[in-house]
Amino acid sequence: MSKDALLQIRDLTKIYKDDNSDKTVLKSLDLDVEKSEFLCILGPSGCGKSTLLRCIAGFEDYSGTVSVDGSIRREPGIDRFMVFQDFNQLFPWKTVINNVAYPLGLNLKASKAEIKERAMEALKKVGLDNCGDQYPHQLSGGMKQRVAIAKALALRSPIILMDEPFAALDAMTRSGLQKEMISISESEKNTIIFITHNIQEALILGTRILVFGQQGHILFDGKNPMQRPVTPASEGYGALWEELHHALYEGSLKRSDTD
Ligand SMILES: Nc1ncnc2c1ncn2[C@@H]1O[C@H](COP(=O)(O)OP(=O)(O)OP(=O)(O)O)[C@@H](O)[C@H]1O
Ligand SMILES: [Mg+2]
Repeated sequence: MSKDALLQIRDLTKIYKDDNSDKTVLKSLDLDVEKSEFLCILGPSGCGKSTLLRCIAGFEDYSGTVSVDGSIRREPGIDRFMVFQDFNQLFPWKTVINNVAYPLGLNLKASKAEIKERAMEALKKVGLDNCGDQYPHQLSGGMKQRVAIAKALALRSPIILMDEPFAALDAMTRSGLQKEMISISESEKNTIIFITHNIQEALILGTRILVFGQQGHILFDGKNPMQRPVTPASEGYGALWEELHHALYEGSLKRSDTD
């Protein structure tokens, strides 16, 4: 484990309790994520990927620790911004620019003009500087996801948590947004944790790829050796795809009996 990773997760256990039983969703998870890493996480449905992001974001109670830059974080904060799959993560009654500006107003001591300028700068980075006065219902799904990403960029959140953000988009829009995400992460140096069910998406985006089994058990953890842009013709693509597919298949077969 690295001593100075930007994000350090230690012995994280998450148990959902209900009236009849306890369900262990994540068990003693240790994970380090380095600054500027683009970490893609694959794993079978129900293995705890979204739960992990919610714990990192500070939306859940858990045992263990999540630290950013060496300080323990238990509550939500602007150093960790979550982008969800759902397109409806914007305030429908606010314009695009005001959606991006709103969290800035809550978190920064700055004039209205400075906040608008910073919101516009972020919209420019996602190619939506012409859409500031529109309302969310006037945008496509891909544009709405861009606005959500712009909110993270405007806040300058060092860690962006993305829970299958492109899963509901058509293939062309998804591919365009993947390219944008790569260029944003290379220029802004954010640390990104990106959940996907799609091996190809993990290979295209990730500088590092994890495969989770049940209870967040890590079945595969490796750097992506391929140079960007990654395509199916990239050297090593087929072998790594096979390896990830095998780990995923193993993860979905092995169900925990320790709940
Ligand atoms: N609020 C909750 N209360 C009780 N159980 C929950 C709650 N949220 C999630 N779970 C359970 O925890 C397990 C992990 O859920 P989670 O949403 O983290 O899985 P996931 O890996 O993101 O799955 P998917 O790939 O389908 O999105 C599931 O069995 C789910 O039913
Ligand atoms: Mg999920």
